[in-house]
Amino acid sequence: MIQKVRKAVFPAAGLGTRFLPATKAMPKEMLPLVDKPLIQYGVEEALHSGMPNIIIVTGRGKSAIEDHFDVSFELERLLESHNKKDLLNTVRAVSDMIDVSYIRQKEALGLGHAVLRAKDLVANEPFAVVLSDDVIDAEIPCLRQLLDIYEFYGSSVLALMEVPKDSISAYGVVDAEPVTHQGSTGKLFRIRNMVEKPKPEDAPSNLAIIGRYILTPEIFKSIESIEPGRGGEIQLTDALKHLLRSRPVYGYKFEGNRYDAGDKLGFLTATVEFALQRHDLGGPFRQYLKSLKL
Ligand code: UTP
Repeated sequence: MIQKVRKAVFPAAGLGTRFLPATKAMPKEMLPLVDKPLIQYGVEEALHSGMPNIIIVTGRGKSAIEDHFDVSFELERLLESHNKKDLLNTVRAVSDMIDVSYIRQKEALGLGHAVLRAKDLVANEPFAVVLSDDVIDAEIPCLRQLLDIYEFYGSSVLALMEVPKDSISAYGVVDAEPVTHQGSTGKLFRIRNMVEKPKPEDAPSNLAIIGRYILTPEIFKSIESIEPGRGGEIQLTDALKHLLRSRPVYGYKFEGNRYDAGDKLGFLTATVEFALQRHDLGGPFRQYLKSLKL
């Protein structure tokens, strides 16, 4: 029987160097898109995909994340006394619905290492990994799309996206063969190999790995058995390559728009797109943008 996925791991212990100086004292995951921190978009995606158990891997200076998902008595009492019910509900909504635990990664030794820190909390279960600086706007949450594949095949599934050749070297790239799934071809792939940040001429395809994964618990053994790779870090991609030797790994070209909010231009693009979608802000913001003499 295929085990249900209940837990989502959020590695949030990176240094966020691409967003300095904002990330000097504040975690990248707390940067707001309009009025909601990046990590909350990811947590809501996990929740809406049926995973209320959230495990956040934090590092130094990340206490703002813990405070964000905690109860704030003073703030809630103040909102109550000012009769600000809507705001009160907004503040309470997510933390009431999730069960969140934290584990530390004392040193940023790589994404694979961060995931391994969650091993005891995950226990021997399949789980999701969410990189919250990849923000995905989708009708069906991206994690839900991956879960549908996982629930069919019972194997690990990675989110894939087509990327233009000139930016491919910013990603993990897969060598994969298409699989016909429920009558359609071109969305699901069985992965043969993967390369972390290849030169454009060495990239095995234009399919890049995006920050959403469903992993079976064998990945922990793979992480434990690999050596530090690129940049001296324990890379999740290397562990996935190791896993490939003994288990099938699938990749799924999800439906939706992905923004790299850990990058300044990606962050600005996401801010504009999310602001335009807002009922309360979209109208006046669109008018403002139209008035710009660009
Ligand atoms: P990034 O590659 O975006 O690295 O990590 P980073 O350090 O956060 O940011 P830059 O590139 O220096 O600007 C991808 C994800 O993996 C987590 C990060 O928090 C981010 O969510 N991560 C990375 C860890 O938790 N620990 C690590 O050692 C490395």
